[in-house]
Amino acid sequence: MLLELHGPAKSRPVTAAPVPVPQGSSAAARKYGVLPMPKLEWTPAVERETAHLYKRIATVVPAVEWPFFAPYVKAINELKRKRNAVILAHNYQTPEIFNCVADIVGDSLQLAREATKVKSDIIVQCGVHFMAETSKILNPEKTVLIPDLRAGCSLAASITGEDVRLLRDQYPGVPVVAYVNTSAEVKAEVDICCTSSNAVQVVESLGAETVIFLPDQYLAKYVASQTKVKIIAWKGACEVHERFTADELRVYRDNDPNLKIIAHPECPPDVIAESDFTGSTAHMIDWVRNNKPKRIVMVTECSMADNVAAELPDVEFVRPCNLCPHMKRITLAKILDSLVYMKEEVVIDPAIAAKARRSVERMINLKN
Ligand code: 13P
Ligand code: SF4
Repeated sequence: MLLELHGPAKSRPVTAAPVPVPQGSSAAARKYGVLPMPKLEWTPAVERETAHLYKRIATVVPAVEWPFFAPYVKAINELKRKRNAVILAHNYQTPEIFNCVADIVGDSLQLAREATKVKSDIIVQCGVHFMAETSKILNPEKTVLIPDLRAGCSLAASITGEDVRLLRDQYPGVPVVAYVNTSAEVKAEVDICCTSSNAVQVVESLGAETVIFLPDQYLAKYVASQTKVKIIAWKGACEVHERFTADELRVYRDNDPNLKIIAHPECPPDVIAESDFTGSTAHMIDWVRNNKPKRIVMVTECSMADNVAAELPDVEFVRPCNLCPHMKRITLAKILDSLVYMKEEVVIDPAIAAKARRSVERMINLKN
């Protein structure tokens, strides 16, 4: 049951990194040095050496586009080896990033889990800022880079550490769960984190009658529909998922009654009610792999359908294409800049990182 909904009167802008970047963020460039920018030419040798990578995305990226991507792909893969770097990419990254340069891909929970196992000195996070912060929180000794510091998230921007402290004053003793789509400063103020993969399990793990759940009001409503725990929610929303409507899904279904619809729990409740399945991005991908529907709508960020279509060419994807503008700030050109110039380094105040680590690790250590 959803008890209360709190939040700012107006949504907050998502124009820059959610937290101020401390001075001295070019320490990585001083530590590892800057490399020469590789030549980016489309030659027969580049074509030959990248042909196996193009094969992975040939059904979703037209051949005419590959000569623009291939020189970057080759240069990034070579520089990764030279730098001993690993690229972590979220399921929403575009197919040429997700399939051709990433070492580890997944949803927020998988990326957080994998970040704890990384052996390389340098992590390049292809996703949004809170994901890069999570990697840094879990790897304080490693250098974590994000190709564009402005890759924010409307959920992370909707709440501050001060907001959490005020909620705690208002509801003394009520435990606080934060979706990982929050800044390190917010993670430092809460009892435990969750992702869309494990939100119900995390809420129930606290053994409390009532829980404060932030910042996504729709994920909170979804959790409230799946548990007896009473939920006090924050009024944040994902600017991508809140745009889907139940009406548009009904039109798709009326046109094809056999169509399958699966939705991310950041969608509004009436959208979830129209869906055959609800789950995190990784759970949605697994659902398509296991059920192999003829036609499907994935009610989530648009690039994910491209990545699943590249893997499962026999499934037809109907696409209401809502793109996340923050995820789309990450491009091959900026990933290459990251590896050449060692930018942009993710820096977190060590005291905040230590407190945030407790909340993230408590989630990761929960038994499945
Ligand atoms: P997942 O944890 O399901 O990958 O979701 C992250 C996200 O930002 C969805 O918009
Ligand atoms: Fe944030 Fe929504 Fe973009 Fe995910 S899709 S990163 S929740 S704005």
